[in-house]
Amino acid sequence: MIEVSAPGKLYIAGEYAVVEPGHPAIIVAVDQFITVTIEHAIGSKGSIQSQQYSDLPIKWSRRKGELVLDHRENPFHYILAAIRLTERYAKETNHPLHFYDLKVTSELDNSNGRKYGLGSSGAVTVATVKALNAYYHLDLDLLTQFKLAALAHLDVQGNGSCGDIAASCFGGWIAFSTFDHQWVIERYGNLPISELVKMDWPGLAIRPLPVPDKLRLLIGWTGSPASTSDLVDQVHQSKKGRLQDYQTFLTQSKDCVEKMIAGFETGNVSQIKQMLSLNRQLLNELTSMTGVIIETPALKVLCDLAENYGGAAKSSGAGGGDCGIVIVDQKTGILPLMSAWEKAEITPLPLHVYQCQEER
Ligand code: MEV
Repeated sequence: MIEVSAPGKLYIAGEYAVVEPGHPAIIVAVDQFITVTIEHAIGSKGSIQSQQYSDLPIKWSRRKGELVLDHRENPFHYILAAIRLTERYAKETNHPLHFYDLKVTSELDNSNGRKYGLGSSGAVTVATVKALNAYYHLDLDLLTQFKLAALAHLDVQGNGSCGDIAASCFGGWIAFSTFDHQWVIERYGNLPISELVKMDWPGLAIRPLPVPDKLRLLIGWTGSPASTSDLVDQVHQSKKGRLQDYQTFLTQSKDCVEKMIAGFETGNVSQIKQMLSLNRQLLNELTSMTGVIIETPALKVLCDLAENYGGAAKSSGAGGGDCGIVIVDQKTGILPLMSAWEKAEITPLPLHVYQCQEER
């Protein structure tokens, strides 16, 4: 039996701007996992099973009056896309295909399919690619696994930077810039997958970051999860009338995150904190520009309390609920903040950064 896990992620900085190539984000992998097991099936039928996902409602809406399924909300679509892509690669590289039973267990969703915003759709895609890599003995390096998972993710979600996929593949703290999606999509239909994943994808940059010993990361959860892909769509719709302001946001975010990366590389925690607070401000300006609520009232309370106790804080990921992150100096006592959060009904999540064991 094959059993592999992929970690969840948290965005530290650079959200929304990172969907544009050349605009970095900092993302971290955390020690909550999605695990995929694969066993040879008996006979000529395979199966896909997940206790967490089996009761999920299938969401749908209407487009021009017609019923359309919302694939993006259902993890089975990410699993199927990852299988399809990885098997295409296997077939092209002369690996015979088999029937198997694939099982998924998730620590990133609870039994109602409720998420903590830790990137479960990215992690399930990565875990499926990794499991099939082992099952078919494909011997793919991490970057190739990332590219297969990114293609599968784009097939289902259609938008997004794939930064969550990179964090889940590579682990640890990473600086990430996305690839030129248009360039990849143009070749996706025309080239064998095995060739496309061997090419350098313009713009793509994934770099591990050293972390200052003095830095401590805290995570709080505010509930009310939001749909990332819907929020990204909304920002893209609303920015259309404000292209100049959006361009300014992109430039400022890039500058801010690059300074934060320099803070990591030089071990300068106060520069990292300063840039985290600036990134919070930039995202609030994006909200004023587009009307899309990123920092909800609960996330504002989470961040303001953290600042009162000497931390720098912001929403993490798409916002609209879910998690906020705080960076504090190691020597700062955190108990007063933890109890202030609990009084404000913010749940501290006891997560740790996860370093993958594989070669980076
Ligand atoms: C959401 O996790 C982060 C965003 O930047 C979207 C993305 O990068 O795909 C808002």
